[in-house]
Amino acid sequence: LRDLTGAYAISAITTYEPHTIYAARLSSPLVIGVGEAEYILASDPTALMEHTKKVIFLDDYDVATITDTDCQIHNLKQGRPANHEAELLDYDNQQVLLGDFPHFMIKEIYEAPATIRNATLGRALPKQNIVKLGGLESVEQQLKYIDRIVIVACGTSYYASLVGEYLIEEVAGIPVEVQLASEFKYREEPFSRSTAIIAVSQSGETADTIAALKKVENFGVLRLGIVNAVGSTIARMTDAGVYCHAGPEQAVASTKAFIAQVTVLSLIALHLSEGRTKHFKPLLNELEDLPAKAQEILDSAEDIRVIAERYKHYRDFMFIGRHINYPCALEGALKLKEVSYIHAEGYAAGEMKHGPLAMIDESFPTFAIATNSTLLEKTYSNIQEIRARKGPVVAVATKGNNHIHNLVGNVIYIPETLEHTQPILLAIVMQLFSYYIAVARELDVDKPRNLAKSVTVE
Ligand code: M6R
Repeated sequence: LRDLTGAYAISAITTYEPHTIYAARLSSPLVIGVGEAEYILASDPTALMEHTKKVIFLDDYDVATITDTDCQIHNLKQGRPANHEAELLDYDNQQVLLGDFPHFMIKEIYEAPATIRNATLGRALPKQNIVKLGGLESVEQQLKYIDRIVIVACGTSYYASLVGEYLIEEVAGIPVEVQLASEFKYREEPFSRSTAIIAVSQSGETADTIAALKKVENFGVLRLGIVNAVGSTIARMTDAGVYCHAGPEQAVASTKAFIAQVTVLSLIALHLSEGRTKHFKPLLNELEDLPAKAQEILDSAEDIRVIAERYKHYRDFMFIGRHINYPCALEGALKLKEVSYIHAEGYAAGEMKHGPLAMIDESFPTFAIATNSTLLEKTYSNIQEIRARKGPVVAVATKGNNHIHNLVGNVIYIPETLEHTQPILLAIVMQLFSYYIAVARELDVDKPRNLAKSVTVE
């Protein structure tokens, strides 16, 4: 093992010791499930859930020697035994089963109301007018001196973080910069100690995000995590953090994790604002009402399926949005291309005239986010420009907006909500839209080609 370089998670057995398994990891995840008279190795605890909830997370340079009755762990770097206690994960067994759903993706989309509830449970307390984040209690003093936040993440978690940038800046008034973890790690930039870095990750095992955190290891900055997978590498390497509590996500396309991440980012924004913002009370109250609104969208999923069916044959798709819904457009495009293999681009609606409009014709539809906001009139103009080029448009609007039918044939409605909470409801719509297109194209929605659930290599 000492001769190996790079990242690995391996297990080995020899004919000389047929009752012993050796396992080791470096920069790639490896967990040991502790069952009834058995040990099971996996790269992700979700894979173990049907067998056991008791797991031991191995650290870098750990070597485990597992026999029929025993599991000893030695850390090669420290040159001594590693004393890892087995942790009990509180996943509900039902969460890893499909139940009556045909795919995990749709099952996980339907978990949106519960996801919002679980992320806010015991944290958003409107009656007491506070947001309580136990995971940040140990760093409360340091948080008071933070004047800049850098968020690092990949893929869907990156887009959730971009939504978080609007939330934290507008609600808490703290400047935020979101960076792709794969880019951040190769940049040289000035960092002051009053900067906090937040890693956002569903799996907690994404190699690029881990590398980004490692880069700032000796910078003396506060490292926080917004992670879903309990006990994962990122959760363990950060100083403090807030778990998403979304439960295991199994479809490769991230759905409920995005909902949970944006919910947690809203809570962090509220918490950092210390109540000193006009947004505090309305946002705190709205988070309580949001699960019912999410359910309303799911109850009308059939309307979205019917519209998706009309768009299944297109080769390209444009997603546009403004302000906090601009990152939603980026995420909508990612979701569609990931599960349906349709080329999709996300753009800030105001950018259309600066180039992308040239591509629009009757063969290039646009998914326009046109929910109630101070910028709605401007989005109408964008839609008119697209319609003038014969571009088909699907719009998402807020219930009660009848004017939109004068511009667009296919409209999907979401319930009235604050601008700051629209991304959560919009995400559900776009996830359903992508799902139904992929199903109509008879694709393997849960396991899109060329992709893995956790990207544990750089
Ligand atoms: O586990 P993470 O949130 O760190 O994963 C980041 C991305 O790999 C992930 O969000 C990916 O983009 C999803 N497949 C998107 O649906």
